[in-house]
Amino acid sequence: QKRLTPSRIQSMKGSAPIVCLTAYTTPMARALDAHCDLLLVGDSVGMVLYGLPSTISVTLDMMIAHGQAVMRGVTRACVIVDLPFGSYQESKEQAFRSAVRIMQETGCDGVKLEGGEEMVETIAFLTTRGVPVCGHIGLMPQQVHTAGSYRSLGHCESETAKIRRDARAVGGSGAFAVVIEGMVEPLAREVTAAVHVPTIGIGASPACDGQILVADDMLGMFTDFTPKFVKRYAGLAQAIDDAASAYADDVRNHRFPGKEHTFEIRTPPG
Ligand code: KIV
Ligand code: NA
Repeated sequence: QKRLTPSRIQSMKGSAPIVCLTAYTTPMARALDAHCDLLLVGDSVGMVLYGLPSTISVTLDMMIAHGQAVMRGVTRACVIVDLPFGSYQESKEQAFRSAVRIMQETGCDGVKLEGGEEMVETIAFLTTRGVPVCGHIGLMPQQVHTAGSYRSLGHCESETAKIRRDARAVGGSGAFAVVIEGMVEPLAREVTAAVHVPTIGIGASPACDGQILVADDMLGMFTDFTPKFVKRYAGLAQAIDDAASAYADDVRNHRFPGKEHTFEIRTPPG
């Protein structure tokens, strides 16, 4: 079966909601593939799987390794890999070289990069040279150190005006879609109506053309903190805690392994 292409994703605007989740590993990609239109190998991998405090120290090599893992588990979904911090902001040429490495070494369908007006030239350079690009505006985690914090946007006129300009710019840059993260509903609705490519929302209301969540968040892999925009569809952290507790109990009480888990000497036939 052929995977969904970025152009197919683009053409879904106005017809069907676009279903997206993150994936970082082969087994997770296998489990999510049939249900999703697009799987994002997000640089959130650094925080979710490596325990890093932000996405800033995620490297191109990490993104390629996880991109390869996800590609081994996918047959249907479009696979997009994040360009990590420092691999594209310097110049459009640097962005192109990083994107080429990702596409050649993983076989994925395109890349995503964060940025508004300042990234239009880069996105146009990539898309006119064969690299499908998904934009990402609004809350941009790679800019946490200049933004000061992770918080939703569109609460004042200056934030709203900037996101309007970014949306129009990225929407007309050649990007096949744009992630809009962390903004109030009226602004997400306005942006979705204003751009001719699909908006994929995270913490950006139901008004978007598609939705994305970090899979581990919606699966309940974290118990300490669930952001407002996350809906939990499973309780994996609790399930793992229960399972590990039962295993430890069995080992300490000599109930595991049982006879059915134990190799016996086979008696030779005849
Ligand atoms: O890295 C990521 O997971 C993302 C999304 C959640 C949009 O960029
Ligand atoms: Na990301």
